[in-house]
Amino acid sequence: MRHARVFAIAGLTVVITAAAYAAQTSGTPSISDEAPVVEETAIPVEDVTAADAEAPVREINLRATHWGDPIAGRDKAATCIACHSTDGNSVADIYPRTAGQSEIYMARQIALIATGQRTSGLSIAMLPFVSDMEAQDMRDLGAFFSRQRNVASGSADDTVITGGPYEGMKVYEVGQKLYRGGNKARNIPACIACHGPTGAGNPGAAYPRIGGQFASYTERRLQEYRTGVTEEKDPSFFNIMATVSHSLTDQEIEALSSYMQGLHNTAQDIALVASMKTAATPTAAPEATEPTPEPAPEPDSQPAPNADGSAAPDTPASPASQQS
Ligand code: HEC
Ligand code: HEC
Repeated sequence: MRHARVFAIAGLTVVITAAAYAAQTSGTPSISDEAPVVEETAIPVEDVTAADAEAPVREINLRATHWGDPIAGRDKAATCIACHSTDGNSVADIYPRTAGQSEIYMARQIALIATGQRTSGLSIAMLPFVSDMEAQDMRDLGAFFSRQRNVASGSADDTVITGGPYEGMKVYEVGQKLYRGGNKARNIPACIACHGPTGAGNPGAAYPRIGGQFASYTERRLQEYRTGVTEEKDPSFFNIMATVSHSLTDQEIEALSSYMQGLHNTAQDIALVASMKTAATPTAAPEATEPTPEPAPEPDSQPAPNADGSAAPDTPASPASQQS
């Protein structure tokens, strides 16, 4: 967790050109990830227009914002509905579910899409809705969606694999094994250490919710991380996942995505966490129980993270400490 903590602090400045569409053709951007950690309000967020030749670069500095206001976010979410549904429980798998997503993760992804640094999938379709937004709007939207109940009902694939290294296992079991225990010999960390036992993520450290997400979307995201190539000007967060997914096979990515789609905050999962906290190692966890589709509880109980994003409220102590 040592470097993860550093990344959580380093990755919050998104640098863009004023003309978002032309982001790739601009000159050298003034990347300011060396910015000192100061009081939230001390860094002014300057809007620089394209007409200002002296300063062609606009910065969306999320560190200059405060924790989002969900009520303000609700009012700004009207344009998101068409694709992500009123509460972030999108129905079509080309639109990722944003219900219960981490506030700061969301804000950062919106900023990346708004500035042309994230162009994956159909994100271009979303661009007009977010390109003029202020950094604080992004956090307010994140706060609104983070408080929506994720009612994912997807289930994991329990087809038995015939042939190959995982012969005889069910598809989701392959994902579950990696998710909970990783693979030390191949330098694959356990996903549970950062994304939590129920896939709810870790809002303080910008680890996204991945439980209940559409498998096809997750699969594509993992493939993108595995390439190690990104347009992001500060790829600290991207690189965490590039390292994680580096040696995953296609089959493992598919299995993980299936497992995560079936992962919800069920009573079974919660009992598992309790048992893992006292277990000696992550692999000492009880045998796999099939993830059951069930609505997740309100994420309202999550403690508010610190302004610097350093809180680690629901990372299970035992597996996390094995992963640094
Ligand atoms: C025209 C459809 C459309 C609209 C409107 C739209 N989005 Fe999106 N959004 C998408 C698509 C498509 C993606 C997935 C891009 C990809 O596949 O990588 C996405 C991705 C996202 C992500 C990243 C999710 C993740 O898990 O990484 C966030 C956050 C998001 N949208 C928030 C919003 C918000 C907030 C609004 C309203 C201000 C909005 N979107 C409006 C289509 C839309
Ligand atoms: C050290 C912490 C850490 C570990 C371990 C980790 N992740 Fe991540 N994961 C992150 C961070 C940080 C992000 C956000 C990256 C970004 O900003 O693009 C992320 C993003 C993701 C996303 C994209 C979510 C979205 O909504 O688009 C998926 C999918 C994902 N991780 C799956 C996994 C899987 C599967 C594993 C285990 C094989 C794993 N992660 C292990 C930290 C971690």
